[in-house]
Amino acid sequence: MNKQFYITTAIDYVNGQPHLGHAYEKIVTDVIARSRRSLGQEVFFLTGLDEHGQKVQQAAQAEGKSPQVYCDKLAADWQAFAKKLELTNDDFVRTTEPRHKAIVQASLAKVFQAGQIYKQTYSGFYSTKEETFLTDKDRLPDGTFDPAYGEVIELKEDNYFFKLGAQQQWLIDYLEANPSFVQPDYRRNEVLGFLKNNKLEDLCISRPAARLNWGIPLPFDKDFVTYVWFDALVNYISIPAAHGDPTVLSALPSSLVPRPSSFGLWPADIHVIGKDILKFHAVFWPIMLKAMGLPLPKQILVHGWWQKDGAKISKSTGNIVDPVAVINEWGLDAFRYYVLRELDIGPDGNWTDAGFKSRYNTELANGLGNLVNRSLSMLKRYRNGVVPTKSNELASEVAIIAKATCTFLEQNQLQAALQNIWYLVERGNRYVEQTKPFNLAKDPAQAKRLDEVLYNLAETCRVLAVLLWPFLPGTATKIYAQLGLTGAPDKHEAATWGGLSAGHKIGEPAPLFPRKDT
Ligand code: MSP
Repeated sequence: MNKQFYITTAIDYVNGQPHLGHAYEKIVTDVIARSRRSLGQEVFFLTGLDEHGQKVQQAAQAEGKSPQVYCDKLAADWQAFAKKLELTNDDFVRTTEPRHKAIVQASLAKVFQAGQIYKQTYSGFYSTKEETFLTDKDRLPDGTFDPAYGEVIELKEDNYFFKLGAQQQWLIDYLEANPSFVQPDYRRNEVLGFLKNNKLEDLCISRPAARLNWGIPLPFDKDFVTYVWFDALVNYISIPAAHGDPTVLSALPSSLVPRPSSFGLWPADIHVIGKDILKFHAVFWPIMLKAMGLPLPKQILVHGWWQKDGAKISKSTGNIVDPVAVINEWGLDAFRYYVLRELDIGPDGNWTDAGFKSRYNTELANGLGNLVNRSLSMLKRYRNGVVPTKSNELASEVAIIAKATCTFLEQNQLQAALQNIWYLVERGNRYVEQTKPFNLAKDPAQAKRLDEVLYNLAETCRVLAVLLWPFLPGTATKIYAQLGLTGAPDKHEAATWGGLSAGHKIGEPAPLFPRKDT
C-alpha cells in the first residue's frame, strides 16, 4: 500500500471569523501540497474545523439554536472560504462528525487501558472565559490574573488527567536527535528551552458533562466529555483512519473502529501550524501519539503571526484585513502572491495596504503581467501567433532557475522560490529591452533574429507558468491558455526548455493583472 505525502493545517475554531491569519496558513499549506504534486508525489491535504467547546455551546444557546445546527451554518461559511482560496484539500474534517468522534474515543480507550489516564479531584482557580485552569504561576506581579482571563473563580471538581510528566526526558532526547521535527530551528529551540526549564504538569483532558455537554463523551466515563486537545489534535489521525490508514488502524482497538481498505497516510509528513499552538503540537501531541503506540509526524512547520499596520489583528478594534474583500477587488492570485512573497514561513508579518498595492503594481502588473502580455502580443502581431523555430538563447538561464525552484520547493522555502522565479520575470523583461523586438520587426533583414527573440520570450512564459502553478494557479492556467496550450501547467517536469514547437499557434493575449490607479 502506497503511503501518500500527508500534510495538514490547524483546524480553525468554527465560531471565529475567517481572517488573514487563517487564510495565510491554508494558502501556505496549499502551495506545499500543489508543489509536491507538481514534483510527482501523491499528496493528501487535510484541513477543517474544531467545533466543540463551551463557547460554541453558549453562542448556540444565545441564538436559540442547537449547537449542531449552529456549527453546520458556520461550517458552510468556512467551506466556502476554502473554495474562495482555491485550496486543493482532499478532505475537510469537522470534529462533530461520527468518523472523527469514533477515533477520539478509540484513542482515549487505548491510552486509558495503557494506564496513562487517571482521575483526580482538582481544586483551584478557573477562568470561565478561557475555559482553563490557572495556577499561581499565571498570576501577574501584583497577584491578580490577567484581565484576558475574564472572571476567575475557585473551583473544586473531579477530572481526568493524562500523564505527561514521565515523558519529559524522552521528548527532549527526541527533539535533540531529530532537528527537522520542529522547523524553523528557532521554534525547535523554543520547545527545547521550555522542556528543559519547566516541569511538565499532567494535562487535564476532561470537563464534567454537567457543565459542558458539547463535547465527545469519554468512553470510560459518560459523565465527562473530552476537552480540546484530545479532541482537536486527534483529527490528524481520525481522517487517515476513516480512509483506511493501516498504521492508525492497527494501533487502535479493532472493536471500536471500522476498517475500510484504502491508502496509507500516517505518519503525517507536515503539520502546518501557527506559533501560538506550538506547545500543543510539539509537546502534547508526540506524548499522546507515543501513548497510543503511533509513530510521530515527520515535521511540525511553524509560521508566524500577521499584524496589520504594526498592530494586532482584532475585530473589536476594527484592525482587520478581510481576505474575501481583497480577493474580490484584486483577484485571488494577487492575494496569494502578496502573503507568500511578503512573509517567509517563521517570522511575524505585517500587512499594509500600501505594500500590497506596491507589490501588485511593480511585481505583478509591471513585472509578470507585462512580460507575458508583450511577449505574446508581439508574437501575435509579428508572426500571426505562430511559434517560430526553436532557439536556445535563454535555455541555460531558465534551467538554472527551474532547478533552484525545485530545490526551494522541496525545502518548503516558498518565499525564496518566488524570489527566484522573479529573477526570471526580470530577466525576460530585460531581454525585451536588450533585443528590442519592436525595432527588429521594422527591418526585414532581421527576420531570423526576431524569430529567435520571439521564441525565447514565448518559451520563457511557458516555463514561468509551470513554475508559478503551485503559487498562482489561476494565473499559470491563464498563461497556458494564452499560449494556446491545453491542460494545466501542473507538472514540474514540463519546466524543461523547448516545450513549444515550431508552427504551434498561440491563443489570445490578455492582461493578467490589470493596472489600477488607486
Ligand atoms: N482550533 C485550534 C487549533 C487546533 S489544531 C489541532 C486553534 N484554532 S484558531 O482558529 O484559533 O487558529 C487556527 C490557526 O490560525 C492557528 O494555526 C493559528 O496560529 C492561526 N492564526 C490565527 N491568527 C493568526 C494570525 N494573526 N496570523 C497568522 N496565523 C494566525 O488554534
